[in-house]
Amino acid sequence: MRPSVIAIDGPAGSGKTVVGQRIAAALGYVYLDTGAFYRALTWLALARGIDPRDGPCLAALARQATIEIERAPGDAPPGYRVRVNGQDITAELASPAVAQAVSIVAAHPEVRAEMLPLQRQVARRGRVVMAGRDIGTVVVPDAGLKLYLDAPLPVRVARRVSQLRAMGQAVDPAAVAREMAERDRLDQARSVAPLRPAPDAIIIDTSTMTIEEEVARVLDIIAGLDP
Ligand code: DC
Repeated sequence: MRPSVIAIDGPAGSGKTVVGQRIAAALGYVYLDTGAFYRALTWLALARGIDPRDGPCLAALARQATIEIERAPGDAPPGYRVRVNGQDITAELASPAVAQAVSIVAAHPEVRAEMLPLQRQVARRGRVVMAGRDIGTVVVPDAGLKLYLDAPLPVRVARRVSQLRAMGQAVDPAAVAREMAERDRLDQARSVAPLRPAPDAIIIDTSTMTIEEEVARVLDIIAGLDP
């Protein structure tokens, strides 16, 4: 039987998004990058002048705000739209200001406590591929399939640099390497829901695999699950 929720965790640049989107498309599932919740809150905090280090204030902001993620079939990736208090901010989620502050925002236990029910609501609807850092360990520990994608930092940096170049951005590879290393550190070192594989996750090192190979591997794993 196909798992209703497929959890994909791993560090930035490990391939979660592209593999998750392709798996979701192949199965007719929704794909959701749960980082979108943290990015949406970060965007709102920056817009309101709230310090990303102020956990209690951010949690209060999250309680007041309405963060909605709705499926946008037929749209270009990410395949969903994010609204904050009714405003579509999907295009803002990848902005450098949000990218820089989001790991600090996501490290606050109070913030994570506010985001957890929103993410579990998505999981309850089912037929979803959820990518993040703590999906298999905290958000959906009973997910029918848990994957943990990984690759060494230099590989992930090279991927991110070519992604940004493809988007027409001027890129300093050394700066990308510093930012990614710092994000890894913050995601792995935080006290609540740190980035780590669930004990029963299948770990896939994507460093020498093409996207097609990764997708084929995951579809094979799904096909081989207990009926
Ligand atoms: O995957 P992403 O780059 O959109 O994630 C942005 C940040 O949010 C990243 O620093 C880790 C954090 N995050 C998290 O802590 N837990 C999740 N389930 C998803 C993302």
